[in-house]
Amino acid sequence: MWAGRFQKALDKKADDFNSSLRVDCRMYAQDIKGSMAHATMLAKQGILPQEEVDKIIDGLEGILQDINEGKLSFNTDAEDIHMFIEAELTKRIGDAGKRLHTARSRNDQVAVDIRLYLRDEAESVIELVKALIKAVIDKAEETADIIAPAYTHLQRAQPISFGHQLMAYAMMFLRDIQRLENAVKNMNYSPLGSCALAGTTYPTDRAFTAEKLGFDGVMLNSIDGVSDRDFCVEFLSAFALIMTHLSRFSEEVILWSSWEFKFIELDDSYTTGSSIMPQKKNPDMAELVRGKTGRVYGDLMAMLTVLKGLPLAYNKDMQEDKETVFDALDTVKVCLEVFTPMIATMKVLKENTYRSAQKGFINATDLADYLAKKGMPFRTAYKIVGQLVAECIAKNTVLDDLPLLDYKKHSELFEEDLYKEISLETCVEKRNSLGGASPTSVRAQIAWVKTQL
Ligand code: ARG
Repeated sequence: MWAGRFQKALDKKADDFNSSLRVDCRMYAQDIKGSMAHATMLAKQGILPQEEVDKIIDGLEGILQDINEGKLSFNTDAEDIHMFIEAELTKRIGDAGKRLHTARSRNDQVAVDIRLYLRDEAESVIELVKALIKAVIDKAEETADIIAPAYTHLQRAQPISFGHQLMAYAMMFLRDIQRLENAVKNMNYSPLGSCALAGTTYPTDRAFTAEKLGFDGVMLNSIDGVSDRDFCVEFLSAFALIMTHLSRFSEEVILWSSWEFKFIELDDSYTTGSSIMPQKKNPDMAELVRGKTGRVYGDLMAMLTVLKGLPLAYNKDMQEDKETVFDALDTVKVCLEVFTPMIATMKVLKENTYRSAQKGFINATDLADYLAKKGMPFRTAYKIVGQLVAECIAKNTVLDDLPLLDYKKHSELFEEDLYKEISLETCVEKRNSLGGASPTSVRAQIAWVKTQL
């Protein structure tokens, strides 16, 4: 391409090192779409004759079709997808192909392509997250009446509807969708026409190409147009947070399916055995999702580091953007594709969650509330219940089984009704405050999330 300026060809290793075709070939459809909009604008503005542009559009359509049908492969030594398509076009239509790059640079071209690509892919990630939310709310519906312990510090804390814990994840995933939507919104301005970095002396119509390509407007500084990759960072951080949520959920799935908890049974189709221990049923999918989270964080960190201290405008460092964004994108998608059916098919073992809720004095707060509702200051009630718990531990019993006589020694406010008040059923049923852990609240949350979807 630039043979005129050079006496020697690029060294073979250096050439391979420099080429991004292997990575950016996946943007071929976006590249062609951008070129078509650009060529159409060149004709409209009288920069290129209409007949030439017609040939260009025909040629590009042919290339698109041939790639889609697998008739044209990326098996060449082109430096990147932009050069590949331009070379192929010129091969097919001759000199007209060489005119396409008038009033354009690969710098604005690539900035357009990634935006178009991410806009399409954001849509597919959002669909996958929606599918996950649907699986989670179905499971929450199914388990709304199941009583389970909830934890702080991984110590049994308070009894909840199992569905309540699941709905916490539904809320997180809903915000993940909003983050992706915001990233698209912030990104959706066209850099096309920024050219190499300084715009052009040709009478281009940037608003026209922006509109043709579905952008909300144009980027108003040509250096910014070709230099920034802040939108890549926004996508990567949205992906990283999806992974954070998947990873925490995975960790719970792993704990819950251990013999120590046995709150859930994962479906055979999402577990593996051991090559030596015949009894094993391992939650590999959840572990892999947890593990791959590190990789997506790495992609985010890599992108931030590439940009740090980079002088304006385009530098080849920026070619690395696609490696990080595509790797994170692929990882998030495959994780969601496996995680969703794993959740949809898992069984919650209500006898076990109930049994665990019976231990660990998780109704102690409710006992303190019982006294406080009868007029005792909460701090005083809290102290008495603490003493009662210590007494139960010493006697190897639980609050539910301690005789009323023992209670009376601590306060005259205790009556027979305390047992009903601290039963797990009451504790969970009555947690009806807005966003609380009762089955009624869980059903209200599910209804709300459905409206958001
Ligand atoms: N393959 C390049 C990239 O992905 C395209 C832009 C190249 N521009 C340049 N001036 N070398 O960043």
